[in-house]
Amino acid sequence: MTFKLIATATLVAALGMGTAFATGTKDEREALMKKIGGAMGQLSAITKDEKPYDAAVVKTALTTISESIKAFPDQFPAGSEKNSPAASPKIWENMADFKAKADKLHTDAEGLLAQLPADKAAVGAAMKTLGADCGTCHQAYRLKVD
Ligand code: HEC
Repeated sequence: MTFKLIATATLVAALGMGTAFATGTKDEREALMKKIGGAMGQLSAITKDEKPYDAAVVKTALTTISESIKAFPDQFPAGSEKNSPAASPKIWENMADFKAKADKLHTDAEGLLAQLPADKAAVGAAMKTLGADCGTCHQAYRLKVD
């Protein structure tokens, strides 16, 4: 009986520690990706002539992408594998590659900020560069859930 109690207490403590270290939740992950998706939407509105070219909008969108993707890999700490069904278990098996793919998007967004796309055509070219980064990571690490 005593042994059972101690075993239970140890188990509870271990579980408690696990959750304390796990900061990455589905909500945090989705919020960052939604921000990135929204920023891409703003760029796409320019290329589709729904909005006129506006350097300030382009700059804000690229900044949002850059900052959000930088924070993104931190949302996948060890032990948070089951937090969202759309996050592939492969993320934790290939963390270095996952981070490299996030880095690639971050670097590309920073490069575009340094040389801001100056017209609609340049925004279109920028979207191609960024979109390829989204696709590469999603293909490898985002699972389809409905
Ligand atoms: C480093 C990898 C990586 C990159 C780069 C990346 N994504 Fe994602 N994205 C993910 C993962 C993983 C998920 C699933 C997240 C989850 O639900 O836990 C996701 C989910 C999403 C979602 C769905 C969010 C929701 O509400 O469920 C959107 C929208 C999205 N990404 C847009 C983008 C766009 C646009 C880009 C490029 C500009 C991009 N992502 C780049 C990994 C990435």
